[in-house]
Amino acid sequence: MAMILFDEERKVFRLDAGNSSYAFYITPSGRLRHLYWGPSMDTTDLLDLGGGTLNVEPPFDPEENQNGRGSQLWEFGPNDLGTKAPASAIVRNADGNTATDPRYVSHRIIAGKPRLPGLPSTFLNSDDEAETLEITLVDQPTKVEFLLRYTAFRDLPVIARSAVVTNKGDAPVDLQKIMSLTTSFRHEDLDVIYFDGFWAKERQYHRERLQGGMRVLGADSGYSSHTMNSCVVLCDPKTTEEFGRAYGVLFVYSGKFAVEVEQAPLYRTTLNLGIHPVGFSWYLEPGESFQSPEALQAVSDNGLGALSRSWHDLIRQHIINPKWRTAKRPILCNNWEAMHFQFSKEKLMELGKTAKANGIEMLVLDDGWFGKRDNERCALGDWYANTEKIGGTMGELAEAVRSLGLKFGLWFEPEMVSGDSDLYRAHPDWAIQVPNRRSTYQRFQFMLDFSRKEVVDHVYETISAVIEEAKLDYMKWDANREMTEVGSLAFPPERQGEIAHRFILGVYDLYERITKRFPNMLIEGCSAGGGRFDAGILYYSPQIWTSDNSDAFDRLAIQYGTSFAYPCSTMGAHVARNWFPQRYSPVETRAAVAFSGTFGYELDLNQMPPEELAQVKGQCEFYHKHHHIVEQGDYYRLANPFEEKTVAWMHVTKDKSEFLLTVVFTRWDHAYEGQTLRLPGLDLNATYTDGEHTWTGKRLAHAGIEISHSSFRSDMFSIVIHGKRV
Ligand code: DGJ
Repeated sequence: MAMILFDEERKVFRLDAGNSSYAFYITPSGRLRHLYWGPSMDTTDLLDLGGGTLNVEPPFDPEENQNGRGSQLWEFGPNDLGTKAPASAIVRNADGNTATDPRYVSHRIIAGKPRLPGLPSTFLNSDDEAETLEITLVDQPTKVEFLLRYTAFRDLPVIARSAVVTNKGDAPVDLQKIMSLTTSFRHEDLDVIYFDGFWAKERQYHRERLQGGMRVLGADSGYSSHTMNSCVVLCDPKTTEEFGRAYGVLFVYSGKFAVEVEQAPLYRTTLNLGIHPVGFSWYLEPGESFQSPEALQAVSDNGLGALSRSWHDLIRQHIINPKWRTAKRPILCNNWEAMHFQFSKEKLMELGKTAKANGIEMLVLDDGWFGKRDNERCALGDWYANTEKIGGTMGELAEAVRSLGLKFGLWFEPEMVSGDSDLYRAHPDWAIQVPNRRSTYQRFQFMLDFSRKEVVDHVYETISAVIEEAKLDYMKWDANREMTEVGSLAFPPERQGEIAHRFILGVYDLYERITKRFPNMLIEGCSAGGGRFDAGILYYSPQIWTSDNSDAFDRLAIQYGTSFAYPCSTMGAHVARNWFPQRYSPVETRAAVAFSGTFGYELDLNQMPPEELAQVKGQCEFYHKHHHIVEQGDYYRLANPFEEKTVAWMHVTKDKSEFLLTVVFTRWDHAYEGQTLRLPGLDLNATYTDGEHTWTGKRLAHAGIEISHSSFRSDMFSIVIHGKRV
């Protein structure tokens, strides 16, 4: 069945994605206006929405009387032409002004979906999973062309969007803004949900009523950031986890981004998502093109939970490398919190032995194994092993770890260079910098100028040699600073606005080369904890370290926020010692929280209190047995840690034959004794058992399960129930 339809007479496009429809039309003067986004609709109803007057609606035209800011529902907004909804594109032309007015020229509908050159993007497993609409618009005075792509997914309520801007004129122009996605909402009262934060407090959930005026939810410091995530939801104020309309957007990009949301009079709301326009520009000589990153949109009429499950399915089926889609991720033990820079071969081997004896599968050596890196002040960029510290060559250390029966992984920070490093001394010009200004030193390091191919080549060669020598099973790819004083000594003045994006293209180029050359090596993304948790990184690396903060209480909030867009199979989650000495969580609860991610340990097993260490084996056995429910199942948030003392969530296998329910009583309250929890997502006609009790699916869904905790009167107590269909 066609997923994309065009009504020739009324010039209406209808895209059917999963159980949703999305529609917009071409006005007589060639502008694109938004019509509808929501559950499936027939074209007849859509035409009716426009009052049956779509093709006679006064075209937006400078000669016509205009209704002012925001009176139109834009699908791709012009700039500086009377109607001031936030522009989708701004081109500074040869005359020096920024009037930009893209108008329809042609379109075509094709099977499947092209990948974006040089950028991560959603992909299909077979061509019949999606259709793509390509619309060409032209700004006539400059002849700048905009090719807008819309891909509708057959089985998911998701549309992928991007734009290619080509200068078809004969004078250079400066592209100053290009949004990958513009959409509008008519007469709706909306809440906005966003996820902001900082180091050790990533993706904190916030929900507010959208007010008039423009809001920019974004990050302008060169990376997708701790500050804000591109996962933004607009929803009906009455929408809950299980009920109501919710619209979501997500960016497949790891650089700076902006989600602009403007509510104009009459509740007409415009939403833009794209590269953050502040500081961005792209110089286009005649004939040159710019490809925007891909933006995604999804809609749910069954609450926030269903919206998240669509994102999870999309990411697992269409973003993550199929190699890792169902492959079990190894339980790892990372030495960072155990030893920081003070490790030795002996200490690592001792850790490895205990890890192996308890069912852990991989040892990861974190920061400090290279150059003269004995502290955070030096040696980034010098990617050769410190043989003294690791007691021999890297190949020998890797072999020694493998001889224990463990896999071996290493930490890198490929995009960075310390001021005190051989690399920086040899190539000070290889750092991101602007002339005549002091570069800000963050964590005693600069960013390498990845806009230059020779820099990426050098890093590729040096880290590949280590990966090869150690035959690494795993690489932790860290990035510990933001981009400041953004400039490159290799580019002319008119191209300095390109550097932040060119840097990210360099990062993707390196990821591409490394993943091609070492297809069996698992990569875990990281950025000072979870500062670069985005769908772009997930295209190359199927898991990302969620936060440096492994305190179980804080992790409830961090993993809750992260789960709105990202499946649990992407969240690095480890058992650590109690992160804040004054706040105690039993090791059972630290494990219960970490089970809902890619499980591991971030502590010195040999320093654990014996009664805690005694539990590690059982925890690993539990994860080995049940990981598939977390990695591949459907996820249900049952309580919001920002509002409830009892926090709970559930994973259910796609065939509904097994579930894993986790409940954390963050603050024990005896008024809650006998509290029940209804479990959605199960088979109503089945009977489930945890080995001790049996319940019908109906009973669990409609009456709930008693999660009594009178036997354990303490904060941060948890229970985990594995249920199986009888
Ligand atoms: C920041 C990461 O988030 C940590 O896990 C650790 O790898 C350090 N960097 C090492 O410098």
